[in-house]
Amino acid sequence: MNAHRTVFGGLVMSTIDRLALVVAERHSGRVCVTVSVDAMHFLSPAAEGDTLIYSASVNRAWRTSMEIGARVIAENSYTGETRHIVSAYLTFVALDEHNRAIDVPPVQPESDIEAQRFREAEVRRRLRLDHAKTLHAMREGRT
Ligand SMILES: CC(C)(COP(=O)(O)OP(=O)(O)OC[C@H]1O[C@@H](n2cnc3c(N)ncnc32)[C@H](O)[C@@H]1OP(=O)(O)O)[C@@H](O)C(=O)NCCC(=O)NCCS
Repeated sequence: MNAHRTVFGGLVMSTIDRLALVVAERHSGRVCVTVSVDAMHFLSPAAEGDTLIYSASVNRAWRTSMEIGARVIAENSYTGETRHIVSAYLTFVALDEHNRAIDVPPVQPESDIEAQRFREAEVRRRLRLDHAKTLHAMREGRT
């Protein structure tokens, strides 16, 4: 807990990373590592006594990487009231026995919501890679 008795955000971030890793490893059947985490926005605090409910899904896979979406809800077990605490998108890369990136199976969206996550994941990937490329070029003194 924080000094003002709300849940410490770092604990939630760590749990999201662990759960998303399980999703990535189940999808790929490989050891995976986190390569990127998009901005995480804490929308509402979780209080002492709340039950935190985590959900995560693989939104899309490319050649060796996968985007996992995670969402955390706080539930008051006595009233049933729920609040959306945080959402995050994490990218994992599957590794072979020599710790090199290795191909992963594609994702086949089935429901409407899966198809929406699949489409949006491509937009986020483009932004992530552009961002990384721009910063790299700046550091190399090319911009
Ligand atoms: C993950 C890692 C093995 C990738 O190695 P690499 O030589 O950069 O491999 P590549 O350039 O082929 O990139 C592998 C994939 O990562 C993706 N990737 C690289 N940087 C990325 C970024 N900033 N955001 C999103 N995806 C990224 C690439 O697009 C590629 O995906 P694709 O094959 O699906 O197109 C290496 O960067 C690494 O070991 N990072 C540290 C991981 C780690 O320790 N995580 C825990 C942190 S505590």
